[in-house]
Amino acid sequence: MADVILLSGSPRKNSNTVEVLEVCADEIEKNGLSTEILNLRGMQIQSCIACNKCIEEGNCVLKDGLDEIIEKIRKADGFIPAAPVYFGTARGDIMAALQRIGKVSRGTDQFLSWMVGGPIAVARRGGQTLTLQEMAMVFPINNMIMVGSNYWNMVFALEEGTASEDEEGIGTIKLFAENVAKLINKIRD
Ligand SMILES: Cc1cc2nc3c(=O)[nH]c(=O)nc-3n(C[C@H](O)[C@H](O)[C@H](O)COP(=O)(O)O)c2cc1C
Repeated sequence: MADVILLSGSPRKNSNTVEVLEVCADEIEKNGLSTEILNLRGMQIQSCIACNKCIEEGNCVLKDGLDEIIEKIRKADGFIPAAPVYFGTARGDIMAALQRIGKVSRGTDQFLSWMVGGPIAVARRGGQTLTLQEMAMVFPINNMIMVGSNYWNMVFALEEGTASEDEEGIGTIKLFAENVAKLINKIRD
């Protein structure tokens, strides 16, 4: 069980999004919390089918592996979803996952309530702000606590494995990660 779950919505092997999440996780761990980076890569994430079966079953009944991710998020105190920008918006898989995670939380024990975190967007050149806004919609409706930094959580990168070259973006993510960890520690005090 990890204190903070970080979820990547990238399909790429040497993903920039995962690279950014690794920086984020390191910073959280420096502040005394455990982390686990989960990845939608290789999964076939379906959209919510509005069956409402999660209300009776306690978890999503679609068997594509997201139910296991939901169980890990349920036990955490922090949640950080991250996506590459595709055509100016978040890659579809992450939004499908976030909508199902939110639906299960609201239909069961509201495990997202007071969960600390915020979204991260990675792109070559444009669309990060809209992508962040899309993912951010999931936080307030689920009684979650979204944490700030000194800029929006965006990193610029195109080729695989180049995210660390965006020094300003990485700095923003490090401060965000530190703030997430500090707030979780304060809530636990
Ligand atoms: C289908 C597709 C659409 C993309 N659309 C955008 C875009 O709208 N804006 C942008 O800046 N980058 C865009 N990109 C580039 C990716 O966001 C960029 O390569 C990013 O680093 C990918 O992150 P990843 O390595 O974690 O998958 C697009 C890439 C693909 C494959």
